[in-house]
Amino acid sequence: MMLLGTQNINSRNHLEIGGCDVADLAAEFGTPLYVMDEKAIRDKCRAYKQAFAREYGDVDIAYASKAFILTAMCALVDQEGFWLDVASAGELYTAKRADFSMGKVIFHGNNKSADELEMAVEYGVKYVVVDSFVELELLSSIAEDAGKTQGIMLRCNPGVDPHTHRLISTGQEDSKFGFNIRNGLAMTAVRQAVAAKGISLEGLHCHVGSQLFDITPFTEAAPVMANFIRQVGDETRVEIEVLDMGGGLGVRYLEEHNPPSVAEFAKIVSESVITAVAAAGIAKPRLILEPGRSIVGEAGTTLYSVGPIKEVHIAEDPGVRTYLSVDGGLSDNPRPALYDAVYSAILANKAGNEPTKAYTVSGRHCETDMLIPRVLLPEAKTGDLLAVQTTGAYNHAMASNYNRFTRPPVVFVMDGKAELVARRETLEDLVKCDVVPERLVKDSPKV
Ligand code: LLP
Repeated sequence: MMLLGTQNINSRNHLEIGGCDVADLAAEFGTPLYVMDEKAIRDKCRAYKQAFAREYGDVDIAYASKAFILTAMCALVDQEGFWLDVASAGELYTAKRADFSMGKVIFHGNNKSADELEMAVEYGVKYVVVDSFVELELLSSIAEDAGKTQGIMLRCNPGVDPHTHRLISTGQEDSKFGFNIRNGLAMTAVRQAVAAKGISLEGLHCHVGSQLFDITPFTEAAPVMANFIRQVGDETRVEIEVLDMGGGLGVRYLEEHNPPSVAEFAKIVSESVITAVAAAGIAKPRLILEPGRSIVGEAGTTLYSVGPIKEVHIAEDPGVRTYLSVDGGLSDNPRPALYDAVYSAILANKAGNEPTKAYTVSGRHCETDMLIPRVLLPEAKTGDLLAVQTTGAYNHAMASNYNRFTRPPVVFVMDGKAELVARRETLEDLVKCDVVPERLVKDSPKV
């Protein structure tokens, strides 16, 4: 069994997170429930800051809010001295509601709307990461009209293969993101940015991929970026001050997973950037990292109540498959369906019992909805509590209302206390955006 962060088995043989017995959490807040281990998040934030300060020096760490964003989460990373990476008006608005300092906000996206760019300029975000020529022109005119100079980074495509799931690979040559360095488009974008009014080119950005266990893509991207910074200096006399190497460090979903530690990651990334800038003969830029998954992934656990358990005998297979249904699924965790993502689980109210039986954990949606194809658990019964681990990143953030399920609440747990940071959606929430034209109103006299 894998215990992450502050997870522990208590004297009642129950899983405990942040000093809270998960059975008590389920009783108080209901299931499904996202439980976020606040200490684990803060520890990761501190590990990032300390390791990069030690290995590189001049670094800012921006939390990639797409991994998990709530107003309270923005406030938490603000307290930890982090910057914030947002990728939509919605994420930016959430940061604003948390009173997050806009001077520490980086705005991403491959197709930002005019409204979003206006909002970014009005709020005064530190950097807009420009991803296309259309955006460059649009932002330039928006900022000029507002009488402002907007700091930008250019999203570059360094052309490295991240060796991760194809749907979360972004740094390879064939990608919708950024300006390709090798084919000269990035240099064209630099020239246009330098000539444009209303914007100031301050940094270059790349993000190679996500859930990386192998850090080689960073060591390959660093010299490409450093050489490009030199080329920009040579050809335009503009000194690029900031190099943003994006996010991507992987996390542990299964016991046998062994991602690099934050300290190892910081050492390798820092060394490769330091070596690359020295080789390129340029001044050491300020470095920015944008971790998302590795800040929150392992800190999150989803609690489900176990429903029916069915043994299915397969004629051509001598074994049986035992389906264990839980009261959530695809709508609170679409990752198995989208990416064949794998997860571990603990039978939380019998946490210390020997895992003796293989179960297939199924969700409650009207389709296959398989959360975990095979997991060994102690003998389970309807009414037990299942804790699916490592659900802190891209679960709540990617949750939907499919089948008109209400999104589960989120609690932060720490030092034996649990606090609600997002309440459960209500049935009323589900219909609040619906509009019924008069002619469809039942018994309407106009029909
Ligand atoms: N910066 C940029 C520009 C990004 O596009 C991303 C993630 C990050 C930072 C953070 O990467 P992380 O440290 O979390 O790997 N929904 C997918 C993951 C998509 C990641 C997209 N970009 C999943 O559930 O696996």
